[in-house]
Amino acid sequence: MNRVEQIKRTFLKELEEVDTLQGLEDLRVRAFGKKGELTLLMKELGQKTPEERRTWGAELNALKDVLTTALEARKEILEEGCLKDQLASESLDVTLPPHARPRGKIHPLSHVLDQAIHIFGQMGFVVAEGPDIEEDFYNFTALNIPREHPARQEQDTFYLPSSNGQPLVLRTHTSPVQIRTMQKNPPPIRIIAPGRAYRSDYDATHAPMFHQIEGLVVDKHTHMGHLKGCLEEFCRLFFENPSLKLRFRPGYFPFTEPSAEVDISWKGESWLEILGCGMVHPNVLRNCDIDPTTYQGFAFGMGLDRIAMLKYGIEDLRLFFDSDLRWLNHYGFAPEARE
Ligand code: PHE
Repeated sequence: MNRVEQIKRTFLKELEEVDTLQGLEDLRVRAFGKKGELTLLMKELGQKTPEERRTWGAELNALKDVLTTALEARKEILEEGCLKDQLASESLDVTLPPHARPRGKIHPLSHVLDQAIHIFGQMGFVVAEGPDIEEDFYNFTALNIPREHPARQEQDTFYLPSSNGQPLVLRTHTSPVQIRTMQKNPPPIRIIAPGRAYRSDYDATHAPMFHQIEGLVVDKHTHMGHLKGCLEEFCRLFFENPSLKLRFRPGYFPFTEPSAEVDISWKGESWLEILGCGMVHPNVLRNCDIDPTTYQGFAFGMGLDRIAMLKYGIEDLRLFFDSDLRWLNHYGFAPEARE
């Protein structure tokens, strides 16, 4: 048997026995490395006669091809085996019960929202929703804020490119949900609409994205007394203070008439504004095909972030949106405390 045939047999036999990727690499080096058997044979070629070179060369090249193909085939098998072993040893039974209780906390805003929905829910309000990207019509026009109205300038609106000829904005308040609700449902109406609102504003008490809770009641005999009673009841329950004082100051909103701004007495020292409200303007009812001679309504819009800051002594609104784990752990609520 010549040397070539011998090398081939030994190599192929060892190849079959090798069972690790490292072993395979060692074998490769023994054949093809700098001092590998095949490499040395190739070097010897130079000293042969041209005739020998031709036959030897062909044989050596054939050997090289056989060994390379065999190496690659073995490598594939070993790699696949490796992956299977790894998958088997790292398997995870997702049906096992967890070792530890979840450690996440409820964000103070989510907690406050739950409380508000709970309190208003007991008064018979249901939750309504509308889109954050809103048509100019719902955010302004239908709310009695026509195109040239100064209130449009006051709101630091984020305008978006129009779609299908409809000017679009990021809603500057949750009041457009009033319109969407009245267009869809006939009175009596009793909804709250919690959600995000957007204004180009940024300091300790203003963020470009913030939260409001809108309220809307429309019925045949709704009057300002209902509005006052409803808000008083809510604030006393929410702030857990049955003698909390509210102050209704005359205000102005294009979509309510009369309008008021509401302050709560804070630590017996000062008044803090928490919401705007009023009787739904007859134009707004008309815009929704509701006859203002038969129906009246009241509406309010409350800053959710604001009442959360007051209740839990949070000084800077921007902290709500920082996602700082230490802060969340401190100000967040245990899941089981969720109402
Ligand atoms: N939309 C008003 C605001 O964002 C609040 C409001 C709502 C006032 C409903 C009156 C009635 O300031």
